[in-house]
Amino acid sequence: MSVAITADKVVKRYGDLTIIPQLTQNIRNGEFFTLLGPSGCGKTTLLRMIAGFNSIEGGQIRFNEQVINDIPAHKRNIGMVFQSYAIFPHLTVRENVR
Ligand SMILES: Nc1ncnc2c1ncn2[C@@H]1O[C@H](COP(=O)(O)OP(=O)(O)OP(=O)(O)O)[C@@H](O)[C@H]1O
Ligand SMILES: [Mg+2]
Repeated sequence: MSVAITADKVVKRYGDLTIIPQLTQNIRNGEFFTLLGPSGCGKTTLLRMIAGFNSIEGGQIRFNEQVINDIPAHKRNIGMVFQSYAIFPHLTVRENVR
């Protein structure tokens, strides 16, 4: 099952450092969406916020209409593949996603 993902004025901070100042972006249900940007701009950070591995310092992330900011990772019903093949290095990209 796919969901629409909405980032509404989302903020990410590490201490005094603001990584994502205020991001608003809607990803439609079933949309093939690509995050493209220079190294260090916050792509992985945002994915981790969506999956529940990073805290969210401001704004909201919603799956359809549900705000997921305070829902723990294991209850979000969403997954992510880590940037390095840290978990299953012997599998292909397709197999890791599956
Ligand atoms: N746990 C952390 N503590 C402090 N700063 C962090 C932490 N994780 C990431 N950062 C910083 O946040 C910024 C964004 O990092 P992120 O890994 O999200 O970038 P990225 O867009 O995925 O880069 P790349 O294209 O190299 O994968 C970087 O400046 C990084 O140093
Ligand atoms: Mg990254």
